[in-house]
Amino acid sequence: MKTFRIAIAGFGGVGRATARLLLSRRARYRQVYNADVRLVAVCGSRSGLASTDGLEEEQLTTLQEGLSGPAFIDESRADVLIEAGPTDFRSGGPGLAYLRSALSVGRDTVVISKGALVHSGRELRRLAQGSGALLKLSGAAAAALPTVDLVQHSLKGCEVLSVEGILNATTNYLLDAMITRGIGFDEALREAQAGGFAEADPRNDTEGWDTACKLLILANFGLGADLDMDDLRVEGIQSVTAERIAFWRGQGLVPKLVGSLSHVDDTFRAEVGIRTYPLADPFANIRGKDKAIRIVTDAMGETIAIGAGKEPLATAAAALKDLEHILETRLAVPR
Ligand SMILES: NC(=O)c1ccc[n+]([C@@H]2O[C@H](COP(=O)([O-])OP(=O)(O)OC[C@H]3O[C@@H](n4cnc5c(N)ncnc54)[C@H](OP(=O)(O)O)[C@@H]3O)[C@@H](O)[C@H]2O)c1
Repeated sequence: MKTFRIAIAGFGGVGRATARLLLSRRARYRQVYNADVRLVAVCGSRSGLASTDGLEEEQLTTLQEGLSGPAFIDESRADVLIEAGPTDFRSGGPGLAYLRSALSVGRDTVVISKGALVHSGRELRRLAQGSGALLKLSGAAAAALPTVDLVQHSLKGCEVLSVEGILNATTNYLLDAMITRGIGFDEALREAQAGGFAEADPRNDTEGWDTACKLLILANFGLGADLDMDDLRVEGIQSVTAERIAFWRGQGLVPKLVGSLSHVDDTFRAEVGIRTYPLADPFANIRGKDKAIRIVTDAMGETIAIGAGKEPLATAAAALKDLEHILETRLAVPR
């Protein structure tokens, strides 16, 4: 039985959910892959824990000060890093140092935060290619909604002509509440904040940046584009008024914040903004915190996927789907 050592950097809601799910699936990994999967290190910004024999869930409640950082992960001799730190696409965030360190030594990596992939995606792809490390990022590209996997596996071989995605749960919740219940933006936002799924500072979601990050990651890592954030036109929902909502309702239209890609001259034009859909369109019926993607290809026509997973479990499961892809690859083609 082959041993796979896993480390998790970033141990908040998603990192902890990923650790719990990983530990609960160890019997599956033994049965399906004949693999002894061990959680050998976890860390937050200032503290962590490590054990070469593998950590158990009850040990994860108390972390030790000082055990953190890329060098700490390196010392754990993990085969796979799962990175779940905060997202900051303007600087790359703390994830960037972890990813540089892991990918440059050939450590397979599952990325959940978006910042480093948006800020330094080109460099990270080069590092992975150079060292032979696998770089997986479902958790950063709308997580439980399949996006990159859809184009790379289900639609393999087809030319993608266009993509439309409702990629941000918070903005979908807000627009849905405004159009179906007639409440204003501020009231809908207060509801979402009270429900714990909108940040105290919601601008990353409401101004369209979270959607833009996911779209850019899908374009660059899934479709071979080479876009920077400056290439995207990004519009949010913060200025949607009661009058515009009333107008759309009168017309039988449903507004959605959509990230879109269209194939133009061998590359993709990318933008984020409000699109409206007639009631018969599946996108008009994506409710609450659900997400959706519609991809049009040359040979398979139109494909739509809808995701309604509960967070943070769904994101943890998306990251562990990536881990299983890594196990499959490494067991088929050992290093
Ligand atoms: N929440 C979701 O449903 C969801 C869905 C998809 C993707 N994501 C992405 O997943 C990531 C994590 O989200 P979350 O909700 O778990 O956030 P969170 O609860 O704020 O957790 C972030 C974690 O990152 C740690 N961290 C900060 N700086 C670090 C450093 N230098 N080294 C190591 N760890 C560091 C924090 O440590 P301390 O505890 O020490 O501060 C904390 O444990 C984000 O990038 C988010 O965009 C989240």
